[in-house]
Amino acid sequence: MSLLHIHASPKGARSASLRLADAFLDEVRRLEPDLEITRLDLFDTDLPEFGADSAIAKFAPLFGETRTPAQEAAWEAVLAQIERLDAADRILLSTPMWNYSIPYRLKHYFDLVLQPRVTFGYDPQKMLHYGMLRNRPVQLILTRSSVLPGDFADFQLPYLKFAFDMMGIRDLSVLAAWRTTRPTPEAREDYIASFEPQARDAAAAFLARPAGKPD
Ligand SMILES: Cc1cc2nc3c(=O)[nH]c(=O)nc-3n(C[C@H](O)[C@H](O)[C@H](O)COP(=O)(O)O)c2cc1C
Repeated sequence: MSLLHIHASPKGARSASLRLADAFLDEVRRLEPDLEITRLDLFDTDLPEFGADSAIAKFAPLFGETRTPAQEAAWEAVLAQIERLDAADRILLSTPMWNYSIPYRLKHYFDLVLQPRVTFGYDPQKMLHYGMLRNRPVQLILTRSSVLPGDFADFQLPYLKFAFDMMGIRDLSVLAAWRTTRPTPEAREDYIASFEPQARDAAAAFLARPAGKPD
């Protein structure tokens, strides 16, 4: 059994979302020591570019086109990211809100893994997308300064829900910490630490959910 931790803050040890993710993972390790945990730190990883070669390669099968070698290479790099995601039985995603939405590196990641005929399909009769990956538990750990979850300006949580749902991953749980901006390091520490019990409780609930079972 494996857990992929996707993390999307550049702030290293000063990241509030990473601190809560670490509290969550400490509890996961305590409860399930054999779980294989890997981290994909999106600000510390050279994600493949999604430029002309990838964008043309994306629709080549739909347009009946043969990919050039460069397009094929770009596409293989995209598929490698999808394979890594799909190999995980469980997913933890920790991210701050940036400008009411998600940090650009996380958007880059979704631009890589959201691919027609690979992670989602489209039913022209129903005019609806459907997911092509198996459902599995996802824990979201979200931080933000001022925007409450459910606020009209919250484009972070709705986007993440929709993006996972498009791929068929619907078993989402959310831990959101807001008002994280405090004037002193001590106040920031104390405030974010006050969410750690919730992170540990979330870990226990997360492990109780069945992992990656086919629909
Ligand atoms: C570039 C940038 C944009 C931000 N935009 C918002 C925002 O739109 N709304 C908000 O409530 N907080 C915003 N914040 C605050 C962060 O979401 C908040 O400080 C969060 O706790 C940081 O998490 P981290 O320490 O894991 O990076 C922004 C922070 C940065 C650096």
